[in-house]
Amino acid sequence: MSNLSSKLIIIASGKGGVGKTWVSITLAHALARKKKKVLLFDGDLGLANIDIQLGLMPELDLGQVFSEQITLPEAVMSYGEGKAQIDIISGQSGTGALASLKAEKITKIGEELNFLSQQYDYSFIDMGAGVEMPIMALANAAKELFIIITSDPTSLTDAYAFIKLYRMRQKDSKISVIVNMAEDRNYGQKAFLTLKKVCENFLKFSPELLGIIRRDPHVTDSIRHQIPLLSRHPSCKAADDIEAIIKKL
Ligand SMILES: Nc1ncnc2c1ncn2[C@@H]1O[C@H](COP(=O)(O)OP(=O)(O)O)[C@@H](O)[C@H]1O
Ligand SMILES: [Mg+2]
Repeated sequence: MSNLSSKLIIIASGKGGVGKTWVSITLAHALARKKKKVLLFDGDLGLANIDIQLGLMPELDLGQVFSEQITLPEAVMSYGEGKAQIDIISGQSGTGALASLKAEKITKIGEELNFLSQQYDYSFIDMGAGVEMPIMALANAAKELFIIITSDPTSLTDAYAFIKLYRMRQKDSKISVIVNMAEDRNYGQKAFLTLKKVCENFLKFSPELLGIIRRDPHVTDSIRHQIPLLSRHPSCKAADDIEAIIKKL
């Protein structure tokens, strides 16, 4: 089955700890609740942790795919209750073993993932931190990028570095910004405008703002309990902000 409106989206930031994994999981879950068919791929090849945030114990993961014991579609597992299921391809958490893979191998998996994503409405690749070769090789699999920033200046410089390298290979890509952990909407807006200005001045293009997610202690609480935010705290601030984003997708 091929889906003409299928979207494969990279979720990246350059910097670690800005909420890529949490945003990937929560957008995927929010769309699944709206009856969309969603695939979530753990692309943090160094320190995978979608399985940790969701409390999964995957028997099959990317380690077996890269060592050619199973194919990529065979690594898909279904997560969630009846009406909101997500298909997940887990990484190998806690080993770091996949971080040293050759770029050609990653590019090949990226192509297979691109093909697999045609069966879904939305597919998200949760990227690792950094802008090194293996990361950029995986990012090459998709023409759409959600870049996650916070108002931390290092997050802005790292996001800029990622965008610059990504655009060198993906000239006709679509790039949208999500500001996470914003103190309030004004702070979030300011962070976005700073990044936008740098992109306009040095890269001659203008990213769009997809949304601002406020800092919210319910996020930490739901991660601690390994339950998606929209199941545990469906009407908190961060949940409202996520819902506003998926309306725009
Ligand atoms: N909107 C938010 N409000 C509060 N805490 C958040 C928010 N988003 C993320 N966090 C916190 O940031 C931590 C790091 O998130 P994570 O998704 O692991 O980042 P990354 O994948 O970019 O390294 C999470 O464990 C969570 O506690
Ligand atoms: Mg992560």
